[in-house]
Amino acid sequence: MKELHFETIDSTSTYLKRNRGELDSFTAVSASFQSEGRGRSGRSWKADKNENLLFSILLKDAPQLEAGPFLSLVSAFSVARSLEGMGMEEISIKWPNDVYVAGKKVCGILLEGNISEYIVIGIGINVNQTEFHDEYRIPPTSIRLELGKEVDIKGFRALLYKNLEEDLKDCLNKRRFISYYEGHDYLKGKKVEHLGDTCTVIGVDEDFALILEKDGVKEKVTSSEVTLKLV
Ligand code: BTN
Repeated sequence: MKELHFETIDSTSTYLKRNRGELDSFTAVSASFQSEGRGRSGRSWKADKNENLLFSILLKDAPQLEAGPFLSLVSAFSVARSLEGMGMEEISIKWPNDVYVAGKKVCGILLEGNISEYIVIGIGINVNQTEFHDEYRIPPTSIRLELGKEVDIKGFRALLYKNLEEDLKDCLNKRRFISYYEGHDYLKGKKVEHLGDTCTVIGVDEDFALILEKDGVKEKVTSSEVTLKLV
């Protein structure tokens, strides 16, 4: 992994998209603060300065482009196993790519790009932040809140980069990631609203499409841009 770090940047993902022509695949850019951090579905991603891990990775090689949206799960898996490596328990993945600890969000992942050319994976992890300023239905958590102690952000970043590099290079070995997901599935059995209907989440298929059930009829949801509301 080639590593760059900025104290302040607009957004690590925007930086990589802007400079993707000059930068190599597996370049990681982190920042202590983002002035225009972006989340999924056009939302902003706000994180207090110096308290969190905010970074993005540029991918341009064939195996990763072939894996495409599946990289959401690969990234969530890397984050989850790195958190486990820090001694955290009760980790789950919320399809397609949020990581939860004890039922609360600790990490968000944003996949962008154009799969014939490049993919940028943006990852935001709440590390030492203990107060969250926006209104949330379920307030987020951080590694520090869960472990009860301050975390060395650089040390955690090194562990995560190592795991991500290994897992992203193995991204076509889908079964490995699906198996982990099946054992750490946040949504399984929960009720969600999809296109106005209330459905029950059954699980995922081998391509990581979500399987929902309504009135005994199963339906697959493939787009990772679908926003599901828990009911
Ligand atoms: C989500 O909405 O849950 C995804 C959040 C992704 C945030 C990260 S922080 C680093 C990278 N740069 C951004 O602007 N966004 C991603």
